[in-house]
Amino acid sequence: MKKKVLSMLLCCAMTFTLLAGCSSDGGDKQANAPETSQTDKKETDEKEEAKSSDDSQDTDTKSSDDGATSGGKKVGVAMPTKDLQRWNQDGANMKNELEAAGFTVDLQYANNDIATQVSQVENMISSNCDILVIASIDGSALGTALKGAKEKNIPVIAYDRLIMETDAVSYYATFDNESVGEIQGQYIVDQLDLENEAGPFNIELFTGSSDDNNCVFFFGGAMKVLQPYLDEGKLVVKSGTDTTLAACATPNWSTEESQKRMENIIAKSYSDGTTLDAVLSSNDSVANGITNALASYTGEFPVLTGQDCDITSVKNILAGKQSMSIFKDTRELASQVVKMVTAINNGEEPEVNNTSDYDNGTGIIETYLCTPVFVDKDNYKELLIDSGYYTEDQLK
Ligand code: BGC
Repeated sequence: MKKKVLSMLLCCAMTFTLLAGCSSDGGDKQANAPETSQTDKKETDEKEEAKSSDDSQDTDTKSSDDGATSGGKKVGVAMPTKDLQRWNQDGANMKNELEAAGFTVDLQYANNDIATQVSQVENMISSNCDILVIASIDGSALGTALKGAKEKNIPVIAYDRLIMETDAVSYYATFDNESVGEIQGQYIVDQLDLENEAGPFNIELFTGSSDDNNCVFFFGGAMKVLQPYLDEGKLVVKSGTDTTLAACATPNWSTEESQKRMENIIAKSYSDGTTLDAVLSSNDSVANGITNALASYTGEFPVLTGQDCDITSVKNILAGKQSMSIFKDTRELASQVVKMVTAINNGEEPEVNNTSDYDNGTGIIETYLCTPVFVDKDNYKELLIDSGYYTEDQLK
């Protein structure tokens, strides 16, 4: 009900009409296919910086043209960092699709710096963005800034990561994060054949940044599957690390941090020929650090999980240095969020499919969950190549 009133208020305040025939499917899927690999990032960053300042100029000019016919409104899109391939894709997909639907877009990246993101969001509010879409860095750090959005009746959509402890959040769109963890846990169970093998098998546990609410679900989902095997002793954390999220966290999802931690674990517990059978990693940037550290491990590569299907990780999967990654098609999430933005602007209720699981501390936030799947060497062609997400050449 609260959401309905919000939508109506917004609709009256805005009185704008979208271009006839515009839809969130307007983006060219092939054109949206990601091209930036994490490895290529340093080289592309400069170009992207230049491009994004060009883009904002283009956007401004374009918006006044579009505005004349569509009454196009301004959407502020705040992304955490360009350091990870996925956020570049998310930002580009959002911008393309929103512009195709007649909106003006203010797209900002915050270099994983909380203060930068706070000030970007404040600027979006003071420059009268009509709707905000935010992938937060620290889910709990935006409450004060978002008071301004609430006062101005600017709807806020939390993108991929839930924004905590503020009643300014209108909707949330993400992938089913608990399912991400469950699939990773189940993959380890299946690969080690824990149902039939006696073990014990050695495992080490890595998750992401503890200020990212998604980790509660990623790690929680995986541990739901793995905990019974730890309890019965079929799985053993040889390093003796606590199996809590805090003990297994990787600050900022940093490749360097996970590499350091894995190197220490190998030196402490696996340098005497002890077999490491599996490593749970919540995403690809963390998995990449683990893969790097495994250069100092003499045994066979363990089962190693990941998430995002970054190009570096898909190449590692093909080279046998990572076992799987969770595929979250960023095109799908962007399309869903554009549908939400469009519905809000039309004074309609956006489509949601989860109204029970995502409480941000002020109450349940109505959520749309997209479905994650896993990719490994056996299905990558179908899921990543045939779907147009990558070309074969990008994976060489
Ligand atoms: C996202 C993951 C991503 C991670 C690091 C999480 O919130 O859901 O897809 O790998 O952040 O950026």
